[in-house]
Amino acid sequence: MKILKINRAHINHDFIKQAARVLGQGNLVVFPTETVYGIGADVFNKKAVAKIFTTKQRPADNPLIVHIAQMSDLKKLARSVSPLAEKVAKKFWPGPLTLILPKKKNVPKIVTGDTDTVAVRMPDHPVALALIKVAKSPIAAPSANLSGKPSATDALHAVSDFGDKIEVYLDSGPAKIGLESTVLDITVDPPEILRHGAITKEILQKFLGKVVEYKHHPTGKVRSPGMKYRHYAPNARLVLVKGSQKEIVKKVRALIKKFKKTGKKVGVIGSKETAMYYKDADCVAILSNQRNLKMAAHKLFRALRKFDDENMDIIISEIFPEQGIGRAVMNRLERAATS
Ligand code: TXA
Ligand code: MG
Repeated sequence: MKILKINRAHINHDFIKQAARVLGQGNLVVFPTETVYGIGADVFNKKAVAKIFTTKQRPADNPLIVHIAQMSDLKKLARSVSPLAEKVAKKFWPGPLTLILPKKKNVPKIVTGDTDTVAVRMPDHPVALALIKVAKSPIAAPSANLSGKPSATDALHAVSDFGDKIEVYLDSGPAKIGLESTVLDITVDPPEILRHGAITKEILQKFLGKVVEYKHHPTGKVRSPGMKYRHYAPNARLVLVKGSQKEIVKKVRALIKKFKKTGKKVGVIGSKETAMYYKDADCVAILSNQRNLKMAAHKLFRALRKFDDENMDIIISEIFPEQGIGRAVMNRLERAATS
């Protein structure tokens, strides 16, 4: 196992070549993107892609996102690209937006599951782009965490999940955004948001006019298979506390008291405004002030992993406003809480 520290402003091309060679040999590489770290394989090498599923312990029907470095790579993956899809790609790529497109036959089924579509994005990270270019093939990559665990926002999170199972980790420090990309299905009209992320509903609406949010119906066909699985879950049980700020503080304090009485180790996710009220907790993570939702997004997964490292039994979390990237933050928190 090699951890190669690679500076995004002064890329060490020898490291990129080493990582590209590993991909060429049908093995996996952990690499940085602006959202979270990815665990990647050559998209056209079925055996290599299969290793992603075994290494992550990921269910086989949960398809992968394919990462490209230039618009011309789209031709290798998508059967057709509508004028609208092209317009959206040109506007938001490279960036934290994944587009669902009609899949070309040659994209292996193991990448896309039982769907006729393929998820594609161009990451906004010079190391990822260099790796894809030197590897000369798009890279299929889910987030670099064990299935169900919080995504890796740092190379060392991936190292702690996979250790020696991965030959090369490219480490460029903390991921800028800290939450996974927005997933937009552009094969339907109006386009549908399958997963919230940093390209928010508000931003997409402004650009596209109408967009809708996909709501999971227990009986219907699952449109984004990833949404049905246990996800983002720390080992500890997570309890979400709702209400006005005053009510939240009161409820969180009461819960800290209740759980501590039963001998549990209690972590709290709070904000700058409220952290001072939670001194009785064993560990407090301040994500941001309530208005700085970008910062909350940036720190969420790191906080969940820290609670695991410190062996918390219970995590009590405040809610965040469901606007802009706050929707993505709340979506991850809700899914961590219900799993
Ligand atoms: O920011 C990100 O998107 C990161 C970085 C590494 O790019 N990747 C990531 O991958 O979060 P993953 O595998 O953890 O999440 C992929 C999501 C899943 O919810 C999956 O179900 C959905 O995208 N997805 C993939 N292909 C799809 C398809 N053809 N149709 C619908 N949903 C799809
Ligand atoms: Mg993931």
